[in-house]
Parts: sequence; C-alpha cells; structure tokens
Amino acid sequence: MSLVTVQLGQCGNQIGGQLFTTVLEDAYGKGGLGCTKKENTVYQDAVLERFFNTEEPSSETRLSCSQQVLPTARAVMVDMEPKVIQQTIQEAKKSGKWQYCEKGQFCQKRGSGNNWAHGYSHHGPTARDAVMDIVQREVEKCDRFGGFLSLMSLAGGTGSGVGAYLTECLREEYPHSFLANQIVWPYGTGEVIVQNFNAALTLSHLYQSADAIIVFENDNLHKICSQLLSIKNISFQDINSVISQELASVLQPAISADSGRTNSPGELLERLVPDPQYKLLNVRTIPHTSERALAFSSFTWPGLLKHLRQMLIANAGMEEGVDWQVKVHSRDRRLSSADFTPSLANVLFLRGKQCESTDISPFSDPRLYSSWVPRDAAFSVFRQQRPFHHYEKYASLLSNSQAPVGPLGSLVGKAWNMFASRAYVHQYLKYGIAEEDFLDSFATLEQVINNYSNL
Ligand code: GTP
Repeated sequence: MSLVTVQLGQCGNQIGGQLFTTVLEDAYGKGGLGCTKKENTVYQDAVLERFFNTEEPSSETRLSCSQQVLPTARAVMVDMEPKVIQQTIQEAKKSGKWQYCEKGQFCQKRGSGNNWAHGYSHHGPTARDAVMDIVQREVEKCDRFGGFLSLMSLAGGTGSGVGAYLTECLREEYPHSFLANQIVWPYGTGEVIVQNFNAALTLSHLYQSADAIIVFENDNLHKICSQLLSIKNISFQDINSVISQELASVLQPAISADSGRTNSPGELLERLVPDPQYKLLNVRTIPHTSERALAFSSFTWPGLLKHLRQMLIANAGMEEGVDWQVKVHSRDRRLSSADFTPSLANVLFLRGKQCESTDISPFSDPRLYSSWVPRDAAFSVFRQQRPFHHYEKYASLLSNSQAPVGPLGSLVGKAWNMFASRAYVHQYLKYGIAEEDFLDSFATLEQVINNYSNL
C-alpha cells in the first residue's frame, strides 16, 4: 500500500526530506542485524512500496527523472520559493540512497509572506492545475494507492494557506482517498506575529477536508531535543529528525494483533477516527535516547509501557517529568484538578524483540475511553518484531484524545483577541478573505473544543 506525500512550504519540505531518509535508515540499518535475509527483504520491500517508486524509468519519464535506479520518493513538492525545494533535492542526492523525481515540484518566485490569505486565495488557485497534474502522475505510479500524507506548518503562509487550499482540491478530486495532514504547531513564543490567525484559519479549513490531522508541537519537540537528546544548539534539522522518527514509527510496516492486517492508512483511520467531528491525532513515543547513550541503556517492555500510559493519561509529550499523581478514575467521577486526559481511540505500536509477549491490557482499560466508543474498538495494537531504527525496543501511541484542547483553546483565544482589535486583519482582507471567514473559523474551532471537552 503506497502513500503519496505532499510537502508544503519550508517546513513541509524539510520534514519530508528527513522522513524519507529516516524510513530508509530504519529499513536498511541496524534493526535488520538479528533478522533473517528473508525477513529483511519482506520489510524492506514493504517500506519501498509504501514510500518510494523503484521502477526503472519508462522511456516517457526517462527524460524527466534521473536514470539511476535509486528509490524515488513518492512525493509532490510545493513551495512558493525555490530555495528550500532545491536544498531538499540536493540533500537527498547527496545521501546517494534515494532521490526525488525531477518533475515532482511546483514552485514560484516569491513566498506567501506569512499571510494565510495570500497563500489560500492567490497562490493556491494559481498552483492548482500544475500541482494536481503532478499529484495524478504520482498516484498513477502506485500499484496500490493508499492515500495522501501532507506535511506543513500552521504558522507561515504557504504550508498553511496553500496547504489548506490544496487539501480541499485533493478532497474534491480524490473523494474516497485517505487524506492525513501532519501539521507543525508553532512555538508558543511565536516567531510569526500573525501565527494564531494563520493557524486558526488552516485548522478550521483542514477540519472540513482532511480525514485526520496529526499534530506535532515545536515546543514539545524542542524539549525532547534539549532534555532527552542533550542537543545544545537545536536546529530545525534536529527537530525534524524527532518528527520523522515518531511518524516513521507509526507508518513503517507492522501487523495488527487482532486482524493480521497491516497498518495501512485506511486501517489506522478506521480505528482512530470513529466520528469525523474528532480528527486531531497526536503521537507519543518512547524511548528518546541518542544513539551514543543507547549503548549504556537497557529498557524493558513493562517499563516502557508503564511510562507511555502515564504520558497518555497525564498528557505529557515526553517521558521525563511526567506527573505520576494523575490517576485514571471512573468517568462518572469528574475531578477538577489533576484530572486525567480521556481518549476516543488509541493505537499502540510495539517494535522490537519479544514485543508480542508483553502485557498491553493497561491500555484497554475502559475508563480511559469515552463511553460511546464500543469497548473493543477504542484500542488496538500493531506489532513488528524487527527493532526500529537504532532502538532494540520502541513503543508509539497514536491517539485521538483530549490532548489538543488546551493548545487549541489558547490559540483561538489569542487569535480572537487580535481579531477583536482588528490588528493585521486588513492584510488578509486585501486578498479577498472576509471578516466572516475569521468568525467562521473561530466558531468551527470552538465547536471542536466543545466536542473534545465533552469526551
Ligand atoms: P511562507 O514563508 O509564508 O511562504 O510560508 P511557509 O509555509 O514556507 O513557512 P514556514 O513553513 O517556514 O512556516 C513557519 C512556521 O514553521 C514557524 O512556526 C516555524 O517554527 C515552523 N518551521 C519552519 N521550518 C520548520 C522546520 O523545518 N521544522 C519545524 N519543525 N518547524 C519549522
């Protein structure tokens, strides 16, 4: 089952490049040492099918793609400035392991200036036909097309505005395909003054067109880099390595414990989004340890899973500093403080030796879940005995839970205050966005917050 990745704006393109590198490192790296040749081949073929086109270029495409038979990413690259796309293509080339198809890009000369309306109303419609042609070519290269994964930030103008517009186009042209958007939530301190406007407008639009929105928060990723990976001068490259590792840990091949099916996008969506009013997902993984420190660490499955469950219920983005005082209680006994974070659905991924014999029952505790979700539908597990990346044991939880309510509430509050003072609003109106569009976005997101608050 293949995924076509749509890389949007600076952030989306930089993450995309790292993601393709990470999935190949995992497939061809240390994880395969203890596996038989056959096991490795099966895994590697599945990774290639999912993320890369490995066909010899046909005579028609020979002119547009490099003739070297390196795996070619199933990617569509979109940006309004050429620089980041060119850098990303160069880095892939330098790796000597994979490449982008040379005709898989769309770019213009000038960015969207951190203005969602510029991206959505101007650049989006201009890009539409050309991008949809590239998308169609990529989809046609897949023997078994499984859906789209779009990568973007919320705060700029291109990833957010063009990204929201193109997601609507994808929904229109591929009404039955799976559409997931991986979004990067801006730093709370805010590098972009209008980031809350851009984020609110993007999220409300994606809520109408995407099937699932996978949220990564730059603040949390930054903490993982500094506190767990001990990185001193943290760059976007460091942060993107963490995002890519976490994403890969849920997208790389694994098998469902109950149905024997693989973790195809459709399979995950069915398990995680039982109602389209709830489509905000997040990923938590454990452990985060630098490769150097791993040599001196030893992890057990019960230890990892105990931490991961506490991260879920205490809504912690990483294993360090988790609040162990937060306890699960019966859902009819609502507490006001140190209340736990309930879920709608969770999918657990276990990767590494002996992962099939560990006890996962603490994740199926019905008190963790909303009462209207059928008991056996709320929790599922996928396993892969092959160690992941450079980790002997690795656990990830892809969740649809109440976790995004806090950050979303704060974002809408800040956007509303700025809108009320009419700051910067005129810069959006000049691209054809009306004041009602802001109000509709705020109302959509308030509804999302209400829905999740009542889980
Ligand atoms: P324009 O610059 O307006 O054309 O839009 P853009 O979508 O290209 O902007 P960009 O993607 O740079 O969006 C800015 C937001 O993305 C800020 O919140 C940055 O913190 C974040 N960001 C930019 N690049 C990266 C990256 O490589 N990784 C991560 N995690 N965040 C990034």
